[in-house]
Amino acid sequence: MSSTYFFDNAWPEERARIAALEAALDPGTRALLEARAPAAGWRCLEIGAGGGSIASWLAGHEGVHVLATDIQTSFVEPLAHDRLEVRAHDITGEGLPPDTFDLVHVRWMLFWLAPDARDAALRQIVPAMRPGGWLLAEEPDFLPMLSSPAIPEPLRSVNAAHVALIEKLSGQVDPRYGSTLLRDLAEHGLIDLSSAGRTHVIRPGDPATGSNWLGLALGRVRQPLVDSGACTDAEFDRAVEQFDDPATTMLFPLTMAVWGRRPA
Ligand SMILES: C[S@@+](CC[C@H](N)C(=O)[O-])C[C@H]1O[C@@H](n2cnc3c(N)ncnc32)[C@H](O)[C@@H]1O
Repeated sequence: MSSTYFFDNAWPEERARIAALEAALDPGTRALLEARAPAAGWRCLEIGAGGGSIASWLAGHEGVHVLATDIQTSFVEPLAHDRLEVRAHDITGEGLPPDTFDLVHVRWMLFWLAPDARDAALRQIVPAMRPGGWLLAEEPDFLPMLSSPAIPEPLRSVNAAHVALIEKLSGQVDPRYGSTLLRDLAEHGLIDLSSAGRTHVIRPGDPATGSNWLGLALGRVRQPLVDSGACTDAEFDRAVEQFDDPATTMLFPLTMAVWGRRPA
């Protein structure tokens, strides 16, 4: 099964876009993972590792071994060391070692897949977990970022058109997937499920709030948006001004974190 992930590591701004995503999400992810206290001897799997910040942080725990996978490994490869193994791997298609991982983490990746590909991915992931082992999946729901009446026009329309365009070009991304993630994990047999969502206000010029992430993503689709008639150059410029205005209140997409355990 193939992946039609929209963003390409070869795009010059992609490392910065991923770094901006990490800056916004890593503190919350680290707190959730730390609560399970990764211990010496654990084998962890980081799927769709991206820039590798979480894989690298996990492998910084004494005696913890991490396998970091992605269809594009160029950002994470330089981080490899004796306890951080990097592998080019498509989670929808290729097997993983069975009954192996004490902890599996995946973030902002499953929502890129069509339902059948997501199903295939979960059919790889669950048997690879050690019986009794844990999965932490964190997937977005973009609704709070798109729908708030506090977002001025044309920023609201331009941003909605940006998400709709990526949906169309990738052909399968589900920007609301975070809301149905727990149901899918239950259907794949995980137990002891729990969930928690987090978001925050995006503040212009504050990288920890994801401002660069959205700014870079918008810049990436400017020309296709204008070419397709979704907005004019003037509307796009005005939307960027509004985005950079500290008076604008816009929420980062909701990240739904779901914990589940493979039955022992
Ligand atoms: C939005 S980025 C998130 C990166 C990282 N998980 C994070 O949260 O910082 C999505 C990542 O998933 C990877 N990806 C997309 N489809 C994949 C697939 N089928 N198998 C493995 N990785 C995939 C992409 O290459 C990209 O690095």
